[in-house]
Amino acid sequence: MSSTTHADKCPIGHTGSDRKTERAGERYQPAIEEVDGTWHLRSQHLVRQALREFGDESVQEGFSAQLIRANTSGMRTPVLYMDGEPHRQVRAKIARYFAPVTVGRRYRDLMEARADELVAQARQRREFELDQISLRMAVHVAAQVIGLTNSDMERMTRRLESFFEFPSVTPGAKAESRLAKLRVKLRSARSSLPLLFFHLHDVKPAIKERRTRPQEDVISHLIEEGYKDGEILAECLTYGAAGMVTTREFIVVAAWRLLERPELLNRYLAAEETERHKILHEILRVEPVVGHIYRTAVDPITLTEGEQSWTIPAGALIDMYVRAANADAEAVGEHPHAICPDRARARGVRPEVMSFGDGSHRCPGSHIAIQETDILLTRLLKLPLTVVRTPSMSWVDVVAGYELRGMTLRIG
Ligand code: HEM
Repeated sequence: MSSTTHADKCPIGHTGSDRKTERAGERYQPAIEEVDGTWHLRSQHLVRQALREFGDESVQEGFSAQLIRANTSGMRTPVLYMDGEPHRQVRAKIARYFAPVTVGRRYRDLMEARADELVAQARQRREFELDQISLRMAVHVAAQVIGLTNSDMERMTRRLESFFEFPSVTPGAKAESRLAKLRVKLRSARSSLPLLFFHLHDVKPAIKERRTRPQEDVISHLIEEGYKDGEILAECLTYGAAGMVTTREFIVVAAWRLLERPELLNRYLAAEETERHKILHEILRVEPVVGHIYRTAVDPITLTEGEQSWTIPAGALIDMYVRAANADAEAVGEHPHAICPDRARARGVRPEVMSFGDGSHRCPGSHIAIQETDILLTRLLKLPLTVVRTPSMSWVDVVAGYELRGMTLRIG
């Protein structure tokens, strides 16, 4: 028997750069460099080291961290912007809402029901934009986990969509500069109306209900912990940015990649759940929704690679390139931009590599995201679909990721 090469095991798009969400001008090398005080990390090993081993020596700088800090002084900060021991305690307490067994048991029926509804609506229309469906799926599922279930879901979706349309604050913009402060204030002022509506129509009714009848969700937990209304609102927005916005994009990119490769689509539709999830993780590795993870060092951080070491000084911005780390051939083997679910990865490298982050802030919603994507796509992609229009792509700073709009599909 002839020996099997990696390419034999990976017949699907194993040549050349296959990534759809390539960002022009983004560099993949060198693995580490300092430019004007900012440290750029691009290898899987260095990004993992920084996130896993130096979580306590750095603080969040992405996801509009400056804006959040400016608006939450004197309040409890949302989980994404916390650090150290208080952050660990919060994560331990919310873990029960995100454990795979819980997600499988508690949310499966609900995800299936929502996916059936959305597919039925798509069938009626015959031609539809996928990001509108993926938004509704992502908002509905995250809303159940958070506990935003006492208002009109369709209206809440539109309110959240208009809130997240406002441009975010670029990571690393010097907080002390007057221009940056002004920009933060302007951004806050412009988005305050949709924020107010979201608070009054969606968050407040959910809090009111749970003060008398607590449920198994994040808002009930926050009430129990003594969070005030404004603090609960900030946490809901964090889940909105971290959970709804990201999953919306992932569903579109996964469908796009599967639809353009019939052999991969057939394999996906015929597979068991574990295998389907493996395919989705590999798509997420190649097309990470969160393109960069940012931190500011609060203590010196010494990173090592073989014999070499580098010390990042306190106060420096650290820019971690998820796209580059995920395509690091040392970690994921040859043809790193190709979708190859059976690829052999280096020991300890996760299937999606850095797409859900790593260390203390690693995404708690990873299982929810993969499960809901799978439940929607197994239903939707079974239909005889034609791609009328591929999506247009733009970039958002809040997650340093892509936004895919206008992917139009026709049934029949
Ligand atoms: C494909 C979909 C998703 C992607 C790509 C994604 C990605 C990420 C990443 C990269 C982080 C870490 C950010 C950092 O370290 O700075 C993160 C954190 C987080 N994600 Fe997700 N996420 C997704 C879906 C979800 C869902 C569905 C939920 C909840 C319903 C969720 C909730 C969160 C929360 C609460 C955090 C903050 C955790 C902390 O700071 O301790 N995510 N996500």
